[in-house]
Amino acid sequence: MAIKRIMVIGAGQMGGGIAQVAAQTGFEVVLNDIDRAFIDKRLAFIGGLLDKNVAKGRMTEEDKAATLARLIPSTDLKDAADVDFVVEAATENLAVKEKIFRILDEVARPDVILASNTSSLPITELAAVTGRPELVIGMHFMNPVPVMKLVEVIRGIATSDATYATVKELAETMGKVPVEVNDYPGFISNRVLMPMINEAIYCVYEGVAEPEAIDTVMKLGMNHPMGPLTLADFIGLDTCLAIMEVLYEGFADSKYRPCPLLRKMVKAGWLGRKSGKGFFDYS
Ligand code: CAA
Repeated sequence: MAIKRIMVIGAGQMGGGIAQVAAQTGFEVVLNDIDRAFIDKRLAFIGGLLDKNVAKGRMTEEDKAATLARLIPSTDLKDAADVDFVVEAATENLAVKEKIFRILDEVARPDVILASNTSSLPITELAAVTGRPELVIGMHFMNPVPVMKLVEVIRGIATSDATYATVKELAETMGKVPVEVNDYPGFISNRVLMPMINEAIYCVYEGVAEPEAIDTVMKLGMNHPMGPLTLADFIGLDTCLAIMEVLYEGFADSKYRPCPLLRKMVKAGWLGRKSGKGFFDYS
């Protein structure tokens, strides 16, 4: 079945990025969120990014207008009845995602693949709340989605080969490089990235060095585009903590113990860029 119309659930940073890339690569995109004002804000943000592309000669005004016209706002999950593919990028909370997947399973056509952009929640568990576990898969984009080439494609225990092949092809059509991963806590990206970020936070906690120094070592010494603490602020410290908890619980191994300083900062509401304060100041 050809995929023409995609529903993206969640108009946050990730969902907005996925919707933008899908629309730019020719798909009709139903961008769903609970609050219309939130969708409008995201569409305005996407419009700004496309304006920049036009100004830089990467896109014509016509392409920009066509891309924006392909983005259709939706505040009703029942709109999933009319799409060929769904990718969910709602909040990283298993109960919330399970609720969404139950509704999608009822509403979407029985042959429609239900993908999740989750960064660490188990695909197998999401699949288990549906009557179509062979059609449930992880499609994990990286932030910022329009810039980053990678998509981790995560196979739950029941995901079929046909579902995998479709998602691999879809990711490639969207200009991304898919990598096949099996469903274990943190997949590849966050199993490798988050312990490094957590260790950088331990370096602050133990007084090894100031945040600026730690980031400089990793930027200039290892050629990382952002230091780990700047990256933690960019991802959101609450998200970093949630992912460390998934690793800690999922493997029952103390090597994934979240740093107490990370817990403390999240409790203080210091969540990084989005709250104006994390390891660095953004106010
Ligand atoms: N949305 C869209 N485009 C964005 C953007 C955003 N939020 N932020 C930056 N960009 C674009 C800029 O517009 C710019 O595009 P042009 O070249 O067309 O002008 C380009 O990215 C480069 O931006 P800048 O020149 O402003 O800054 P930079 O060179 O420092 O690059 C960066 C910014 C691409 C974010 C770079 O710092 C980087 O690669 N950082 C690491 C990002 C990373 O590791 N991401 C993965 C996070 S982990 C994750 O996502 C998974 C998870 O589960 C937690």
